[in-house]
Amino acid sequence: MKILVVGSGGREHAIVWAVSRYGHRVYCAPGNAGIARLAECVDIEPLNIPALVNFARRQKIDLTIVGPEAPLVAGLADELEKQGLKVFGPKSAAAQLEGDKSFAKRLMLRYRIPTAQFEVFDDYERAIRFLTGRRLPVVIKASGLAGGKGVEIARSFEQAQQVLSGYMREDRLGAAGRTVVIEEYLTGEEVSIIGLCDGKRVRFMIPSQDHKRLLDNDEGPNTGGMGAYAPVPVVTEEVFRQIVERVFEPLLKCFAQEGIDYRGAIYAGLMLTDDGPKVLEFNCRLGDPEAQAILPLFEGDFAEVCRQCAEGGLSGQDADIPPADRWALCVVLASKGYPGSYEKGLPISGEVEDGENLLVFHAGTRMENGRLVTSGGRVLAVTGLGRSLPEARQRAYYGVGRIHFPGMQYRHDIGFRGLRHISEG
Ligand code: AMP
Ligand code: GLY
Repeated sequence: MKILVVGSGGREHAIVWAVSRYGHRVYCAPGNAGIARLAECVDIEPLNIPALVNFARRQKIDLTIVGPEAPLVAGLADELEKQGLKVFGPKSAAAQLEGDKSFAKRLMLRYRIPTAQFEVFDDYERAIRFLTGRRLPVVIKASGLAGGKGVEIARSFEQAQQVLSGYMREDRLGAAGRTVVIEEYLTGEEVSIIGLCDGKRVRFMIPSQDHKRLLDNDEGPNTGGMGAYAPVPVVTEEVFRQIVERVFEPLLKCFAQEGIDYRGAIYAGLMLTDDGPKVLEFNCRLGDPEAQAILPLFEGDFAEVCRQCAEGGLSGQDADIPPADRWALCVVLASKGYPGSYEKGLPISGEVEDGENLLVFHAGTRMENGRLVTSGGRVLAVTGLGRSLPEARQRAYYGVGRIHFPGMQYRHDIGFRGLRHISEG
């Protein structure tokens, strides 16, 4: 097939890697320096929908695989389909599951999908009255897309007030923050369950676990994700069964009853609480950096499964069985200052190359005068593979040790929860 991958991060590099292994011809818009080694990069931004549709039509692209959420929410899949082009990624109405948190929460309530208790507000004064005298912490979420910056855990009334004022009165996140969801604070271990959906059925990928906080021991600010590993020991067969029964079965029923034609990746960010799994969020795409851990474990032709989803005819197994002896662990290398502002254009040196049981995915990189330089907050994602979690971890950090750029920061403890589970048996 001729495949167009949309996006420019580590997730998209992992998608391009998985697709090109099966001999498909791959284009990527806009791509990055690592992707350019495997695919023909096309200089079109993911939100330039007319240009993407034009390109796909002219090049007779067989399937477009959309990486990030923003173009999906903006209607890229709708426009491609109007031209008779196949696309893996939901249409705008279905992508609202990620694009509009208040919509997602209301659907979860209606279909009894377990999630934190919540209220929705579009009036600042009402939100403040609701919070007065309430037990803390609470979680305050901008309803719209905020690129991972729209969730705050408020531990004091003053902090809650500041966050609400920033979102709702000062428009810190623009339109995305004018409506907020205030929800109950949940505790437990977080896991990412990603399914490939053809509208009616889901094929589950291997469970993975992200590390959202910037610093070791889950300290520091939230980020897009600093590392991931798969499979996840805490997701036992029994836990997985609960997740399917309580979350995905009602979700598919919801799609059917609400007329939501969902074709693409569906990502449930879950908290495993003492009362069972609860949904923190749905995303309409693969996770980043989860994709860099789970795609190297994917058995078979990923593009072919995406095509089946796009056509509404998913066949084969319901779930990818976590292999007993194949593990992946991915460490993200970020720029100094990330997730705040950071410098770009810094030279990357060392061995930025795949090796034995080692994959180096590019995220924010580009070539400048023949040199590889940084061009984003998350710069590279180094994935180690192994027969055990400790082995995968060892490979990943070995790979990290070969790479350098000024101000490079990364977490040293990716996989710690999994390792703890394993050592506690
Ligand atoms: P979200 O974008 O909704 O996944 O939120 C980002 C991060 O905030 C999650 O990965 C969690 O670590 C945290 N979070 C979100 N909702 C809650 C909640 N209700 N209770 C505790 N932590 C939460
Ligand atoms: N890694 C979290 C996300 O992709 O949303």
